[in-house]
Amino acid sequence: MEQEIRQFLKDTMRIGETILCFDEIDSTNTYAKRLALEDASEGTVVIADFQTAGRGRMDRSFQSPKGKGIYLSVLLRPQLSPERLMTVTALTGIAVCNAVEAVCGVRPGLKWPNDPVLGKRKICGILTELVTDPDGKITLVLGIGINVLQEETDFSPELRPIATSLAMEVGQKISRPELTAELLRQLDRMYDALLDGDLDGWVETYRRDCVHLGKQIRLIGPAGQASATAMDVDDTFGLVVLGANGTIRTVRTGEISVRGLFGYVE
Ligand code: BTN
Repeated sequence: MEQEIRQFLKDTMRIGETILCFDEIDSTNTYAKRLALEDASEGTVVIADFQTAGRGRMDRSFQSPKGKGIYLSVLLRPQLSPERLMTVTALTGIAVCNAVEAVCGVRPGLKWPNDPVLGKRKICGILTELVTDPDGKITLVLGIGINVLQEETDFSPELRPIATSLAMEVGQKISRPELTAELLRQLDRMYDALLDGDLDGWVETYRRDCVHLGKQIRLIGPAGQASATAMDVDDTFGLVVLGANGTIRTVRTGEISVRGLFGYVE
């Protein structure tokens, strides 16, 4: 698998010098978190063809059928303020959209904060985790799962209304090694911009890709749910919303649901 990916991967600066490929693993994120504590080098990539315990946000599982998706984690050690660090999740969403557009010829939209969607269903999940070692050194584990070759029946009945694959949307067979290599290249570009603090163009792209600006949404957070209108995305990818009580605020954590998107009903 590594050779097939390297065939498409030309020059990256920081990501992909070490690529560890597994036929089967519990979760690439769990493995990468262990590596982070063992001093693995920045830019190490962990890829699996099948995850037996793929993990998603908010303690959900991530269905990872064998040979169908791209399941990978990247280990990064940025020395940045917490505020800048938090932007990496949204930036990763844009990097996925760039890679899909380059290889498949269609550009996904983004559902805040970082879900690439096509035809109103999710094609990718992103789970960012932080590991702090006993010396206080912070490692970021970027976990990305892209649905590439799945057919409808590869998704559980509960997921079918809200998940789709690139093959289902684009109607052609897509090369997973080629898309993986393009994704690593796009992540490398993104990481360079993050370290340089040169994010204006990325924020503009995010605003253009965001599928629900101007629309009614439901905010879902630890404190419960609330209706609001999505007004804008600020320079650190916070979602500016107009609440039902007329106040404007910026949301930085949680998720949203949109009428008709992801099958949620308000
Ligand atoms: C979500 O949408 O809730 C995030 C899903 C993240 C899935 C990816 S697949 C590769 C990596 N390993 C995991 O266990 N999770 C992430």
